[in-house]
Amino acid sequence: MTKCWLLLLMFLLPAAHAMSSHPDDLRALRVFAGSLDGGGPLLRAAWSGASCCGWEGVGCDGDNGRVTVLRLPGYGLAGPIPGASLASLLQLEELFLGFNSFTGSIPEALYSLAGLRKLSLESNELSGELSPRLRELKNLTFLDFSVNHFFGDLPDVFGDITSLDYLVAHSNGFSGSLPPSLSSLSSLRELNLRNNSLSGSIARVDFSSMPLLALVDFAANNLSGHLPESLVGCSALKSLSLANNHLIGTIPTWIGELDNLCCLDLSNNSLVGEVPKGLTCLKGLATIDRSASMAFTNMPLYVKRNRRALQQQQPNVISGGNNTVRSGGGNVLSGDNNTVISGNNNTLSGTNNTVVSGSNNVLTGSNHVVSGSNNVVSDTSHVVNGSNNTVSGNNNTVSGSNHVVSGNNKVVTGG
Ligand SMILES: *[C@@H]1O[C@H](CO)[C@@H](O)[C@H](O)[C@H]1NC(C)=O
Ligand SMILES: *[C@@H]1O[C@H](CO)[C@@H](O)[C@H](O)[C@H]1NC(C)=O
Ligand SMILES: *[C@@H]1O[C@H](CO)[C@@H](O)[C@H](O)[C@H]1NC(C)=O
Ligand SMILES: *[C@@H]1O[C@H](CO)[C@@H](O)[C@H](O)[C@H]1NC(C)=O
Ligand SMILES: *[C@@H]1O[C@H](CO)[C@@H](O)[C@H](O)[C@H]1NC(C)=O
Ligand SMILES: *[C@@H]1O[C@H](CO)[C@@H](O)[C@H](O)[C@H]1NC(C)=O
Ligand SMILES: *[C@@H]1O[C@H](CO)[C@@H](O)[C@H](O)[C@H]1NC(C)=O
Ligand SMILES: *[C@@H]1O[C@H](CO)[C@@H](O)[C@H](O)[C@H]1NC(C)=O
Ligand SMILES: *[C@@H]1O[C@H](CO)[C@@H](O)[C@H](O)[C@H]1NC(C)=O
Ligand SMILES: *[C@@H]1O[C@H](CO)[C@@H](O)[C@H](O)[C@H]1NC(C)=O
Ligand SMILES: *[C@@H]1O[C@H](CO)[C@@H](O)[C@H](O)[C@H]1NC(C)=O
Repeated sequence: MTKCWLLLLMFLLPAAHAMSSHPDDLRALRVFAGSLDGGGPLLRAAWSGASCCGWEGVGCDGDNGRVTVLRLPGYGLAGPIPGASLASLLQLEELFLGFNSFTGSIPEALYSLAGLRKLSLESNELSGELSPRLRELKNLTFLDFSVNHFFGDLPDVFGDITSLDYLVAHSNGFSGSLPPSLSSLSSLRELNLRNNSLSGSIARVDFSSMPLLALVDFAANNLSGHLPESLVGCSALKSLSLANNHLIGTIPTWIGELDNLCCLDLSNNSLVGEVPKGLTCLKGLATIDRSASMAFTNMPLYVKRNRRALQQQQPNVISGGNNTVRSGGGNVLSGDNNTVISGNNNTLSGTNNTVVSGSNNVLTGSNHVVSGSNNVVSDTSHVVNGSNNTVSGNNNTVSGSNHVVSGNNKVVTGG
């Protein structure tokens, strides 16, 4: 008897699961797979079974069996996006179609999916202008159009999509000015419009109501105006890249007040004047093109990490010359004339670097000055003090104790 119940259960359970997908959505997905110009046969082969809720890339609401998630990144799907069938997935919340070969424009029907929270069309061959109907997707939090061939204005509809926390549209052909309604995105964390043809004043976006904003990337556009002072309130800002635009004015002192800023790239603009004192926490400023009357014209402020970040012992990648690490650990430094004052486990390459008291550092290159312990030093002409260092190469001066020394070294004192 028990056996019978068990058999019955085993029979019923998968059947109950199969029952759980909604027939309209099952049909819509079959039509979707059948309408694709490329990738359809593979998808249809992967999509077998009576309930679409168990299919690869498909997620359902447990209660009513409606499809809420469709995640098909990199499935080799090609041709126009079959919009009508997607629009039948009435409760769709997440649609990920990135890294495929979809062509054509965004089908109008997609804008009727009012429950959509996340939409990614990243890295396809999509083109055309974005419709102002985008404003109908009021629940969007995540929107990624990057690396396609979209062009025309970014529609000024963001005042209706205020839950957005991630807006990425880099590497397209968007032109025109920045839509002012971006200013109302008070939940925004990441805004990346890099590598488009956006023009006009950068000040058309007011950043003053974006307390969570951590990344802004407008690099490689044609934006003009001064660095927007409204950024000063963005205390969560970690990365600001405005390189390769036509920004004018000076580097404002308030940049030094952005406590969490660890990457700043203002290179290739028309900024003039002195680097403000408040920026002295940013190490390794490289400057070119100084003229007598105007220091730091077109200054190449490449990616920088500031000292606060270093003091939090976060691993940093530091390139360029004359950088100083005061107390960070686990940093990777390349370039010349770098100084590590007390960090541990740093990797330094290049020449003329100095390690004053760190340990477990790995140094290659030449002309290093090293004191501290457990460092591995290779190549030539080092001065090494401290203990337990492994030194190889030529013309090194080694003092201290417990070193392992090989090579043609000239002066070795101590143990
Ligand atoms: C949008 O989100 C809200 C809050 O989560 C929800 O109540 C509403 O039903 C959603 N709108 C649609 C059309 O799904
Ligand atoms: C800029 O965008 C274009 C168009 O999408 C793309 O082909 C190009 O690779 C991008 N360049 C960079 C440096 O990302
Ligand atoms: C950039 O903007 C300036 C005006 O600010 C305009 O003269 C120029 O043609 C624009 N360049 C590109 C490549 O769009
Ligand atoms: C500087 O930016 C302009 C666009 O503003 C771009 O055309 C040019 O290639 C950039 N130069 C460098 C060296 O990156
Ligand atoms: C680094 O400092 C040295 C001298 O201290 C100076 O000659 C050199 O120009 C500096 N390099 C840079 C990139 O600032
Ligand atoms: C390093 O310092 C030396 C002088 O000590 C200077 O000649 C050289 O240009 C500096 N290198 C860099 C990359 O700043
Ligand atoms: C450095 O590496 C050693 C082991 O190689 C580890 O015990 C130590 O915690 C590391 N220190 C830092 C600051 O990462
Ligand atoms: C390293 O320092 C020596 C002299 O102290 C200098 O002649 C040489 O140019 C420096 N090398 C670099 C790459 O900065
Ligand atoms: C290493 O020791 C020698 C002699 O003890 C001293 O002259 C030199 O300044 C020391 N170098 C460093 C970097 O501490
Ligand atoms: C160096 O090695 C010796 C013995 O191998 C050890 O007692 C000493 O603690 C080490 N010193 C450091 C600073 O690691
Ligand atoms: C080491 O020093 C000798 C002279 O003392 C010199 O001939 C040789 O070139 C040096 N080697 C290196 C690698 O600097």
